[in-house]
Amino acid sequence: MIADCKIIELPKIADVRGNLSFIEGGIHIPFDIKRAYYLYDVPGGSDRGSHAHKNLHQFVVAMSGSFDVVLDDGKEKKRFHLNRSYYGLYVCPMMWRDLDNFSSGSVCMVLASERYDELDYIRNYQEFIALANKEKK
Ligand code: TYD
Repeated sequence: MIADCKIIELPKIADVRGNLSFIEGGIHIPFDIKRAYYLYDVPGGSDRGSHAHKNLHQFVVAMSGSFDVVLDDGKEKKRFHLNRSYYGLYVCPMMWRDLDNFSSGSVCMVLASERYDELDYIRNYQEFIALANKEKK
């Protein structure tokens, strides 16, 4: 459900030498972390995502710059703007996601609950809608 996907504020140790934030799996985010990946050098106007995952939990952080994440559970869509490295968006399984509006030099880090598995992806929107509606029944 889209209501399960929310912005989580991370701990921030403010320091004149530079701030520090941290993320512990199962504590600050509701899953254990098996994988991290990041998007960088994203050209202006470019879009990422456009798929859903059957079982994967993810946590998305704008480590630098800003971008938007649009989530869609098959019924409702919600746009989240990420622009601080001490906030992240928790994305539960079965959410179609589109990432857009990247600022220049932005870095999008994603923490994931599982290793990379192409079989967990749903890359066809019609297929996603059919599966999402079946799960709700
Ligand atoms: P994809 O998840 O489709 O990118 P995005 O959702 O960010 O637009 O991944 C793009 C390519 O990278 C695809 O060929 C699979 C590969 N990939 C890996 O090999 N390992 C990974 O952990 C991820 C996230 C992607």
